[in-house]
Amino acid sequence: MPVTVVLLLPLLAAIVLIALKRRYATALRDLPGPWLASVSSLWQVYQLVKGHTEQEIIRLHRKHGPCLAGDCHPFGMLTAAGDFVRIADNEVSVANPDAVRALLHANIAKGSWYAIFSLPDYHYVNQMSERDPQRHIRKSRNVAAGYALSNIIRSEAQVDALLAQLEARFDELIAAGQPVEFDRWFNYFAFDVVGEVTFSSPFRFLATGTDIRHAIANTRALALYIAIMGHYVWLHNLTLGNPLLSRLGLQPSSHIFDTCLAALEQRKQNPAVRLDMMERWLHARRTYPDRMDEAEVFGAAVANIGAGADTTSATLQAFFYYLLRHPQYLHRVRREVDEARAELSPIVSYAEAAKLPYLQACIKETYRFHAATGTGMPRVVPAGGLTIAGRHFAEGTVLSINPWVFHRNPALFGVDCDDFNPERWLDAERAKQMDPFLIHWGAGYNQCPGRNLAHFEVSKVCATLLRDFDIEAVDPKQPWRFETHFTAVPYGWPCWMRRRASVVSK
Ligand code: HEM
Repeated sequence: MPVTVVLLLPLLAAIVLIALKRRYATALRDLPGPWLASVSSLWQVYQLVKGHTEQEIIRLHRKHGPCLAGDCHPFGMLTAAGDFVRIADNEVSVANPDAVRALLHANIAKGSWYAIFSLPDYHYVNQMSERDPQRHIRKSRNVAAGYALSNIIRSEAQVDALLAQLEARFDELIAAGQPVEFDRWFNYFAFDVVGEVTFSSPFRFLATGTDIRHAIANTRALALYIAIMGHYVWLHNLTLGNPLLSRLGLQPSSHIFDTCLAALEQRKQNPAVRLDMMERWLHARRTYPDRMDEAEVFGAAVANIGAGADTTSATLQAFFYYLLRHPQYLHRVRREVDEARAELSPIVSYAEAAKLPYLQACIKETYRFHAATGTGMPRVVPAGGLTIAGRHFAEGTVLSINPWVFHRNPALFGVDCDDFNPERWLDAERAKQMDPFLIHWGAGYNQCPGRNLAHFEVSKVCATLLRDFDIEAVDPKQPWRFETHFTAVPYGWPCWMRRRASVVSK
C-alpha cells in the first residue's frame, strides 16, 4: 500500500468518527437540519459564501414547520416556521416566538462568534464583542447617555447640513444627466452622520464625493472575513487578530481603527467640538475613572464606525427600493408628506417626520422586510439549561435567532408576510401584537444602541427626499443585489432622480 494511503487512512477514519460523534452523540440528534450542518461549521461558512443565509434559514424553518391552513407544501406561504433547525453540531436556529424573551431579553452570554468584533485585536473588547452579560451591561451603561435621543437631537442642525449636502450632490448628478447609485450616497451620508454625531465632524465622504481610504470597499471585504472568521476566532487571534500583527495595520479591519484614530486626533484640534457622543463618554470616564478605561471609549467609537453606516444605508435603500416597486404605497406616503408640506422645515425635522403615521408605517415595514442584519444572533444556554417551547437545551448549547426568520413567519406577521405591505402597521391593535417580534435592532441588553440615531436619520432622509425628488429605477425590471454576510447591504440599482416641480430649490 502506498505511504500516502497509509497516512491518509487513519486521518479519514478520525474525521468520520468525529463527524458521527457530532451527528449522533448529542441531545440535538433528533432536530432537523442539513446533514453537513450537524457535523461541521462548514455548512454555515458555505451559506455565507453563497450570500443568502437568511433565505436558506427561512426555507429550512418552513420546510420543517407546521401547516397553518389548507394544502401546505414545504415552502408554501401557509407553512409556519418550524421551531428548531440544527445549523451546526452544537447550534440550533430557533423560530419559536418565546425565544425572543428566553434568549434576547434574558441576560445570557452571546455566542463566541461575536468575539471577532474586537477591533483591531482582542485588547479592544467593545460592546459588540463583549460576551459576558454583566460586563456588557456595565459597558452599555457607561456609553448610554451618548446614544440617548435627547443627545442625538442636539446634532440635528449638523445632520441637516449633511442632508442638504446630499441633496446638492443629487442636484449635480441630475444636472449632469447621470443616474444616482444610492448604495454609494446613502453610505457616504451615514458615515458622515456617524462622524458628526460621534466626533463633531463629518468624515467628508459627501464633501469629497469619494470613498475615503476605501472605507466602504474595505468594509464590504471585511464583512465576509468577519462573518467567516467569527466561526474560527482562535485562528483569527493567531493570525490577523494577533496584537503583534495588528500593530502593523495588515488586518482587513485596520481602516476602521485608523479612521477612528484620525477622527480622535482631529477632534482634539477642533475648537467647534460640541457635546457630542465622545464628549458624553469622556465625561463618564472623568466622573467615574474606575468604571471605564480609555480603551473602552476608543472601542465604543470604533463600534460606531463599524456598525453605523452599512446598516443605515441598507435600510434607506430598502425604503426607496420597495416603495418604487409598490407605487400604490409610494403614492399614499407621498400624499401624506405633500399634505403636511406647509408644516415641514426645509430639511424635515425628526419631530415633523415622527408625526407622519403612513411614513412611519413604511419605515417600520422596511425594518421588517429588509432587516439590515441577516445572520443569526447566537446566545449560549446558561448553567441549568433552558427550556423553549417545551424543549430542554443543555448548558453550552448555542441557540440563535435570525431576524429574517421571525419577520417572515406567517404566524407572527400574517399570511402575506412575504409581501411588502406598510398597511399591516396601521391597525394599532395588530401592530401591538407584531411589535415584540420586530427584532431588526435585536432585543434586550444587546439591542442596537445606535437605534435612536438610525431611526432619526432614516425618518429625516425619507421624508425630505420623498418631498423633494421623483425617483425612478433606470431599469425597473432589474432587481438589486445583496449578499448577507452580517449586514445585508444592497447595490446595483441605479436610479434617475428629478427635482419635483412644486419644490423650490433650497
Ligand atoms: C437601521 C440601522 C441599524 C440597524 C438595523 C442595526 C441593527 C443592529 C443589530 C441587529 C445589532 C446586533 C444585536 C445583537 O447581536 O444582539 C446591532 C448592534 C450594534 N449597533 Fe446597530 N443597527 C443600526 C444602526 C446603528 C447605528 C447608526 C449605530 C451607531 C452609530 C449602531 C451601533 C451599534 C453597536 C455599537 C452595536 C453593538 C451593540 C451591542 O452588542 O451591545 N447601529 N445593531
